[in-house]
Amino acid sequence: MKIETSNMLFFFFIVIMSITIACKHDPFVPVVDMHDDMMQDTTMMDTTVLENPCDTNIIYFNKDVLPLLKGNCAYSGCHDAATASDGVILDNYEAVISTGEVSPFNLSESELYEVLIDDDPEDVMPPSGKLDNDQIALIASWILQGADNLNCDEFIGECNTENVSYELFVAEVFKTQCNGCHDSNVASGGIITDNYESVKSIVDSGRLFGTINWDNGFSNMPKNQEKLDSCTIVKIKSWIDEGALDN
Ligand code: HEC
Repeated sequence: MKIETSNMLFFFFIVIMSITIACKHDPFVPVVDMHDDMMQDTTMMDTTVLENPCDTNIIYFNKDVLPLLKGNCAYSGCHDAATASDGVILDNYEAVISTGEVSPFNLSESELYEVLIDDDPEDVMPPSGKLDNDQIALIASWILQGADNLNCDEFIGECNTENVSYELFVAEVFKTQCNGCHDSNVASGGIITDNYESVKSIVDSGRLFGTINWDNGFSNMPKNQEKLDSCTIVKIKSWIDEGALDN
C-alpha cells in the first residue's frame, strides 16, 4: 500500500510537471511566433493586393513629379507638346525621360536636373528663376530613386472633405497646378492664383469651380492638361461651400 501510494504520488507529480512545463512553454515560444507570422502575412496581403498606398519615402511620377513639371515647365509657350521649346516636352513620362535626358540614378548626367541648378541666369530653368529648394530636391530624389514611373493610390477609398484648409490644401494644389500660368507675373487671362485675395475674388466671381470641374461655359483648367483628380475637386468644392476661408 505504502509503495503503491508513493508510486501514485510520483506518477501524479510527473503528470502535473509535464502539464506545467507544457503550459509554460507552448504559449510563449512556438505558438506565439506562428501567430505573429500569420498576422504579418495577412496585413501585407491586404495592403498590397487590395490597395496601393503611397509610401512617403518614394517619389511617384504622376503624383509628385508630373504636377511640378506641368505647373512650372510644361505649359504653352514652353515645354508642352505643342510648343516643345528646344525639343523638350515635359508633360508625360516617356517624353520627360527622353527629351529631358534623364539618366536614372545619375544627377550629373540628367539634363532635366542640371538646368534646375544652373547658376547661369541665361541657362537656368525655369527662365523666371529657380524652383524652390524642396522642388529641386524632389526632382533629385526621383532621379536618384531610379526615375521610375511609379503610381500609388493617394485617396484609398475615401476622400476627406472635412475642414479643408486653404493654406495646407487649396494653395498647395494651385502651387503645382495653376501658378505656373497664373502667378502675379504671368496672370494668364488676368487670373492670379498664387495668393488668397486673388483666389477669393475668382471664387466670388463664380469662375473657380466651373473651370476646375470642366463645366460647360468655362475654360477647362489646368489648361491643356489632365483634369484634377476627383477627390481634389470635391475637396476644393467643400472649401468653397464652407465660405472659401483663409484657413
Ligand atoms: C498651361 C497654363 C495654365 C494652367 C496650368 C492653368 N491655367 Fe487657367 N488659364 C490659362 C489661360 C491661357 C487662360 C485664359 C484663356 C482661357 O480662358 O482659356 C486661363 C484662364 C483661367 C480662368 C478664367 C477662365 C474662365 O472660364 O473663367 C480661370 C478661373 C483659371 N484659368 C483658373 C485656373 C486654375 C484654378 C488653374 C489650376 C487648377 C489653372 N487655371 C491652370 C492658362 C492656364
